[in-house]
Amino acid sequence: MIKVEHLSKHFGNVKAVDDISFNVNEHENLILLGTSGCGKTTTLKMLNRLIEPTHGKIYINNKNILEQQPEILRRGIGYVLQNNGLFPHYTVGENIAIVPQLLKWDKKQTEHRMSELLEKLHLSKDYLNVYPNKLSGGQQQRVGLARALVADPPVLLMDEPFGALDNVTKAKIHAEFKALDELKKKTIIMVTHDVQEAFELGDRICLMDAGKIVQQGTPAELLFKPKNKFVSDFLQEQRLQLEFRSVLLGDIKQEISGFDENETVWSVMEKLKSNGDRSAEFERLMSAFYQYKQHQAHE
Ligand SMILES: Nc1ncnc2c1ncn2[C@@H]1O[C@H](COP(=O)(O)OP(=O)(O)OP(=O)(O)O)[C@@H](O)[C@H]1O
Ligand SMILES: [Mg+2]
Repeated sequence: MIKVEHLSKHFGNVKAVDDISFNVNEHENLILLGTSGCGKTTTLKMLNRLIEPTHGKIYINNKNILEQQPEILRRGIGYVLQNNGLFPHYTVGENIAIVPQLLKWDKKQTEHRMSELLEKLHLSKDYLNVYPNKLSGGQQQRVGLARALVADPPVLLMDEPFGALDNVTKAKIHAEFKALDELKKKTIIMVTHDVQEAFELGDRICLMDAGKIVQQGTPAELLFKPKNKFVSDFLQEQRLQLEFRSVLLGDIKQEISGFDENETVWSVMEKLKSNGDRSAEFERLMSAFYQYKQHQAHE
């Protein structure tokens, strides 16, 4: 659905983005992961033409976006800015209504859509008349998400949408994010520098360094088949937890009653560990997981 070919952006001598190519399938969640300054935001901004590329091509639904009018292009793309990017002098309601206003929706339609979204994102209607700085960081990020989703665009670009949150709030929002129906039918590119978040939310990951993509693949591919030392070093911290989260029950060929093959070893462990009657299954799960790891290492 989205196709990026040999894309570069140079600012003077700085190669912010240096010849990257990747594809995103429809309804997929692709993560751009990498250290600060590696070119993630620049890449995202080229996708909705806030920044014009130095070289390269971008296609969305087989259309060359560099030949499209930016205003038309942006109607199909929701953008969640880094640090939520809400306008401080607009109320929450005014922030969310920016796109509906551009699209000349009538008042009733806008209000209906806003209250629907607020409910889905667990925000009280009372906030509509409040300025963003009165809200907590987590609430502000939800408003940023509501603003991006309001016109139901098929593509969503998210720049560190959960960046400023503490770990507890982050875990809660991650769970909501995965459960939200509105997001399941979107094609999403999400930027983060948080490895755990990338593994939790991404179908595939592009790991970037100094403007280049070092490796792209599923979380399991990056973990078990790292292309070089940069990749394995990047994933070194909390490696075991990442492995639990990226290996599926189907991968280790174990049947455990009540769980299907698409569940991660992590989620099965979490549910079995507090149930004393199922400790034998827990042991079987662990032993199959370690066998799988050994097998991967020797392949
Ligand atoms: N307008 C600009 N002019 C000059 N250099 C720029 C400009 N925008 C970005 N850069 C440089 O391009 C590089 C990539 O920046 P970018 O914002 O894309 O990084 P990032 O991966 O999003 O980083 P972070 O995780 O800190 O947000 C950096 O070296 C940055 O200083
Ligand atoms: Mg950035």
